[in-house]
Parts: sequence; structure tokens; C-alpha cells
Amino acid sequence: MPARPSASRRTVLRGAAVVPVAGLGLAACSAPGGSAAAEPTAPVDLGAESEVAEGGAKLYKDHNVVVSRDKSGTLKAYSTVCTHAGCAINKLRGTTLICPCHGSEFDAVSGKVVQAPATEPLTELSVKTEKGRIVAGPAA
Ligand code: FES
Repeated sequence: MPARPSASRRTVLRGAAVVPVAGLGLAACSAPGGSAAAEPTAPVDLGAESEVAEGGAKLYKDHNVVVSRDKSGTLKAYSTVCTHAGCAINKLRGTTLICPCHGSEFDAVSGKVVQAPATEPLTELSVKTEKGRIVAGPAA
């Protein structure tokens, strides 16, 4: 936006007021590949295998990963970087993931969208157990 020379004081004030908002916006809603929300690029140890019950799911916010276990005991892992605009999904209700930015919802068991505006499923990650620990990593 071009700055008007006669409004230099206002511009300075506006600039100061915008900074915190822009900071929040970046943290909550950065684009894919941005610094705020990124899925693992190498295998990460998430924790004890027993933390994910059959038919349940657990959200690992620090790693932007959700791990679910179906009724047969099979683990699945998905990136929780929202496929709509790249926000980090920070809420899990049952096995439904809820994005804070525009309200998209995803099924943590299948990765599929259950509520728009997102249209693409979550990115599936590789997952395995090692000595009772869950290890998830980049898509196989
Ligand atoms: Fe998740 Fe828009 S970024 S709903």
C-alpha cells in the first residue's frame, strides 16, 4: 500500500499496531513450508505405544502429528498441518481433528476431511513401533 506523505505519523502508528497482529497471524496460519507449522522431516519418537488406545487417537502438537489406532490395533499417523492453508491443527475431540484457523475438521483414523473448507485429506506419515515406542516420520 503506498504511504501518503502527509500521513507519516499515522503510518507509523498503524505500523506499530499491526506488528502484534501480524505476529499472531504468522504463528497461527502460516503457509505450507512456513516456519510455524511443519510435519516431521525425519523419524521422531512420539512416546509410549500404550498412549494410543484402540479406536482412539493422540495429537502430538509439538511435532504436528496425530497417531490413531483402529479396532484391529493398526497404527496410522498423519501430519496435522492443515491442507487448507497450512495452519497447525491444535485440537482433537475424540478422533476428530479441528483446525483453529477456518474450522476444517479431519478424521484422525482415515485422514479424510469431514468439514470444509479443506478439501484434501491430511498427509499420511510412516509410523512404526520400536521397543514399545511410537516412531513417526515422513511419508514412506
Ligand atoms: Fe485449516 Fe484453513 S488452514 S481450515
